[in-house]
Amino acid sequence: AWRLGDFADQTIAALRAQIGSDRVICGLSGGVDSAVVAALLAKAIGPQLTCILVDNGLLRKDERAAVEREFTEHFQTDLHVVEGEQRFLQQLAGVVEPQEKRRRIGSEFIACFKEEAGKVQGAKYLAQGTLYPDVIESGAAQDGPAATIKLHHNVGGLPKELGFELIEPLRDLFKDEVRRLGLQLGLPEDIVWRHPFPGPGLAVRCLGEVTADKLHTLREADAIVVGEIKAAGLYRQTSQSFAVLLPVQSVGVMGDSRTYENACAVRSVNTDDFMTADWSHLPHDLLSRISTRIINEVPGVNRVVYDITSKPPGTIEWE
Ligand code: XMP
Repeated sequence: AWRLGDFADQTIAALRAQIGSDRVICGLSGGVDSAVVAALLAKAIGPQLTCILVDNGLLRKDERAAVEREFTEHFQTDLHVVEGEQRFLQQLAGVVEPQEKRRRIGSEFIACFKEEAGKVQGAKYLAQGTLYPDVIESGAAQDGPAATIKLHHNVGGLPKELGFELIEPLRDLFKDEVRRLGLQLGLPEDIVWRHPFPGPGLAVRCLGEVTADKLHTLREADAIVVGEIKAAGLYRQTSQSFAVLLPVQSVGVMGDSRTYENACAVRSVNTDDFMTADWSHLPHDLLSRISTRIINEVPGVNRVVYDITSKPPGTIEWE
């Protein structure tokens, strides 16, 4: 029988043999796939590994810190964090159109990554967390309607022009196998079970123009959504749960005074393949706690709505 324990040992041995004494660069995104690749490489060739995390200022709360903890303290890798927030914000200034946001974030990401990778002496390989479904999709979805609804989904995919040989140790695995492998390699549950997160990050959940202030508001609201769903023990039963900051202001009342602030949408979906999805039928008392906490704790938000749109006709993200 096929065992994941054997897979880990065999993959680590094969990586060691393939890489020899060369240097490998591995991009980290905060997600589980790249973390598992980095963990495999840390075990295989430890000191020859350089990890790069581009902090685009569009990550979830504590996401960067979790990666830093894991890949400097636990796996002691040579981790480079690119402080990209200002560059990305500059690229996004004045942009409201979702596809244009994606384009700009995608090309800025490549520029940042390229710059940082250029500082790494003598790197021969680039490791990526490509999974089996990605392999199939990139072959099949090129001309399909899905390809044109939203721009290329995997912003993490880097162009060949970088000049590295690719290492993709997860090419034969499905997501659930990657998660089990991650646990086995000693990655924390927090990283292993983290919901998928789009490459353009919070930018496509901050509707309209993206600013540092709006991102701050959204990040805090999102942390409450995720935190309460976790506290209710429902995080792993939902596929993707998050907050969306709407460019809509509405009137409210707080104490004796009138407020006029932004609305925030809560989105949570259940899905097997992310091609179709149902909205999560979350308990009303949980929704109520989320709403109360966001309004009390997040300045600038005075109204919370729950998104009850399935996919199709909706998409999971709002942009
Ligand atoms: P939609 O919104 O199209 O999302 O129903 C389906 C899945 O894809 C993710 N998504 C993206 N991932 N870059 C990514 O890497 C993107 O531009 C992007 N847009 C959507 C979304 O989070 C969901 O998991």
